[in-house]
Amino acid sequence: MANFSFLNLLFIVLFSTAAVEVAVVASTPAATVKGAYYPSWVSSSFPPSSIETSLFTHILYAFLSPSNSTYKFEVSDSTAPLLSNFTASLRRKNPPVKTLISIGGASDGPTLFATIASSASTRKLFIDSSIEVARRYGFDGLDLDWEMPENPKQMTDLGLLFQEWRSAIQREAQATARPPLLLTAAVYFAVDFFLSGTYRMYPVASINQNLDWINAMCYDYHGSWDTSATGAQAAFFDPNSNISSNYGLRSWIKAGLQRKKLVMGLPLYGRTWKLKDPNVHGIGAPAVGLGPGDDGVLIYSQVETFNKENNATVKYDATTVSTYSFQGTSWVGYDGVVSTATKVRLARALGLRGYFFWALSYDKEWKISTQASRAWIYGK
Ligand SMILES: *[C@@H]1O[C@H](CO)[C@@H](O)[C@H](O)[C@H]1NC(C)=O
Ligand SMILES: *[C@@H]1O[C@H](CO)[C@@H](O)[C@H](O)[C@H]1NC(C)=O
Ligand SMILES: *[C@@H]1O[C@H](CO)[C@@H](O)[C@H](O)[C@H]1NC(C)=O
Ligand SMILES: *[C@@H]1O[C@H](CO)[C@@H](O)[C@H](O)[C@H]1NC(C)=O
Repeated sequence: MANFSFLNLLFIVLFSTAAVEVAVVASTPAATVKGAYYPSWVSSSFPPSSIETSLFTHILYAFLSPSNSTYKFEVSDSTAPLLSNFTASLRRKNPPVKTLISIGGASDGPTLFATIASSASTRKLFIDSSIEVARRYGFDGLDLDWEMPENPKQMTDLGLLFQEWRSAIQREAQATARPPLLLTAAVYFAVDFFLSGTYRMYPVASINQNLDWINAMCYDYHGSWDTSATGAQAAFFDPNSNISSNYGLRSWIKAGLQRKKLVMGLPLYGRTWKLKDPNVHGIGAPAVGLGPGDDGVLIYSQVETFNKENNATVKYDATTVSTYSFQGTSWVGYDGVVSTATKVRLARALGLRGYFFWALSYDKEWKISTQASRAWIYGK
């Protein structure tokens, strides 16, 4: 049985390699993205030089924000050396990886970018400054993490921002005879905000035309905002609702996004609940509050510690493609080795460009990042 599957796999690998080589002749396929956001606040305990670059293709520096009065980047004296060190360290690694500045993040809130995107003059101030900063510190690209556009007007403005940003990037590349900067964005797991009161949809045509790819945040589906039941916070499938990566990723494709512009997010952290009854411990089990961790969040390395210290029971759930563990009334939903590798294979089978992690330093000795990278190679 084991031998049979291995030969079968080998055949598929050899066969698909041949198919890919034929395709290369026709047109160069978009290179795989194995991305990860680097939380810059860990730089003293987790310096860029310690990143295992063989597991990634792109590392995003999180985060840099424009000024809320000039809309330009005013890099402080304490941040400048971090940026220089980040790009210099990663360029010197073997293999080197590409670096992007991720702009914004959840803590910036939605208003700053709504203001910037709302007029041609503020868009220009922001765009020109972003390109200047990326070049000054040696980055290969820029990523916008506006969480989240709040209405249809802001989505239209976002489309204009991407269009003018791409034009400016092309002009700069031509003027300086350098490869153009990459341009990406972190976005909601689905193309539209079908769960919210104010319906709005991302500007897919502008994204196809102007971005290299988008990073779909396929996580935070369940969490501290609902303590009534446990949940798979990054379920790939959900038989009972549309709050799943399968639904979200397919909604992007259905809306016309090119599959090679779509990169799936993977969480390197879990979310915890306090069970109502320790004997009822499945996904969706009744809960009465949050479990261990800050606001019910444990990063992956803490989940491993929790499991070990408490001799927790660990279960893989094939229905949702997720992992959970529990001991007594403490319950943790997360992605372990098996669920991560399975999701990566599913993303590859969907024809996506790749995957990314939030966040790089949350892994335990590169365990999950390694399995994800292997699963992509042996995908299908
Ligand atoms: C603008 O930024 C400054 C400095 O970060 C902050 O103190 C201030 O509250 C911000 N103003 C608004 C309107 O967000
Ligand atoms: C980055 O900073 C660290 C110390 O924080 C230093 O050891 C290293 O040499 C620096 N790397 C580069 C490329 O400047
Ligand atoms: C999921 O979305 C589809 C449309 O995309 C809709 O027809 C269906 O009713 C939704 N299912 C649930 C459980 O909300
Ligand atoms: C850990 O749990 C298993 C059952 O899940 C049990 O057999 C074992 O004795 C436990 N070990 C300790 C050290 O509590």
